[in-house]
Amino acid sequence: MTLSAAAQYGAQHLTRGIGRLSQHVFVEGRGSYLTTDTGKRLLDMTSGIGVVNLGHCHPAVTRAAQEQCGKLTHAQLNIGFNGPQIELLRALQPIMPDPSLDTFFLWNSGSEAVEAAVKVARRSTGRPNIIVAQGSYHGRTAATAAMTRSKTLYGEGVGPLMPGVFSMAFPYYSQMCMPHDTPTDTLVDVALQRVRLLLQQETAPRDTAAILLEPVLGEGGYVPAPPAYLAGLREICDEHGMLLIVDEVQSGFGRTGKMFAIEHAGVRPDMVVFAKGIANGYPLSGIVASKATMDAMPPGSMGGTYAGNAVACAAAQATIQAFRDERVLDNVAARHTELLEGLDALRAMPVGALIEDVRGHGLMMGVQFRAPRPIASALTQACLERGMLLLSTSAFDAVRWIPPLTVSREELAQALGIFKDALEAVAHAEGCL
Ligand SMILES: Cc1ncc(COP(=O)(O)O)c(C=O)c1O
Repeated sequence: MTLSAAAQYGAQHLTRGIGRLSQHVFVEGRGSYLTTDTGKRLLDMTSGIGVVNLGHCHPAVTRAAQEQCGKLTHAQLNIGFNGPQIELLRALQPIMPDPSLDTFFLWNSGSEAVEAAVKVARRSTGRPNIIVAQGSYHGRTAATAAMTRSKTLYGEGVGPLMPGVFSMAFPYYSQMCMPHDTPTDTLVDVALQRVRLLLQQETAPRDTAAILLEPVLGEGGYVPAPPAYLAGLREICDEHGMLLIVDEVQSGFGRTGKMFAIEHAGVRPDMVVFAKGIANGYPLSGIVASKATMDAMPPGSMGGTYAGNAVACAAAQATIQAFRDERVLDNVAARHTELLEGLDALRAMPVGALIEDVRGHGLMMGVQFRAPRPIASALTQACLERGMLLLSTSAFDAVRWIPPLTVSREELAQALGIFKDALEAVAHAEGCL
């Protein structure tokens, strides 16, 4: 592909450390589509990695941000509250997965919020260690890279990383090196036994502040945690006075068909980390826990120049309102069924033999392959050539479906058609058919 002049400049002057799916320069976004500087229109099944859940430039969110820009853009939170921040807290509190979660801290990015969660967990329990899941992704900053277990890439060569982090088993067949048809009950039993062993052999409960996990592994393969596993972790945390923290940065704000993925399991978390979808594209993140837990932090120990920015908070409030006004979760349920049906139909075709696993909730769906050679990366490029953005995920051979939650029936049908064509093309090119 020949690069536009702007793309060439970007490739020269932005570090190659970023890495990217495409070399396009995006100049406009509307709903489920992005337009490039060369006028190409792409169907977006990535949502900016789970951020623009209401589609690109949702009119109500854009309006709220524009209006706020003319009123007040920055009122630093260690100096005073800002209006939209308070209004946002009023909108957020009722949608939290448990009424005990009533005290917030707002920040900018997911990684920063994860780091804040670690500090609160350590300070409120007086214990240093954190347990994360194998296959987890919590960010690329120095501390969160230490807690990320999906790929070594994020922490490789930049250590020493933050100490006091231990990894527990996660009941996903590939992650546990077990056959695809291993019953979920077996995966859960073995994983929970290993967590208990971890607490006997590697990090004593009295030294362990929290178990931190994504209720759906994101960069680790789009794998939902089975409810029995989450219930087992809750029990272990209760037994040992440890906090159960869920990182809903990617799975939150309707992505899985409920406002938060943990709701599928009906398990109470002690703390929730959120970001991405909260403001539909404006940088905002946060954590929430009980007042007693959060207020373990002394005044002044939390804050940040742009934390809880007024424009981002106004956008977030409009985002939450749009979820209600436009019955977005109903759309997620309908499109989920169609996506499953489409993928099932594909599995019934000759090329479908390459699909090993289809999994997920709502519009957070993973598809894993069993090709003689890995094909996920070639598949995403074949989709790109056909006008669609789709991301791979994890150290395993998998792709992830993460369309805007507002995606229409027609757009999804078009996406499934492109996926089928691309899969057939890759299968032929790789000699898999
Ligand atoms: C589950 C999870 N946690 C944390 C992060 C880090 O968020 P950010 O990139 O905003 O720092 C991500 C980002 O993809 C994520 O998916």
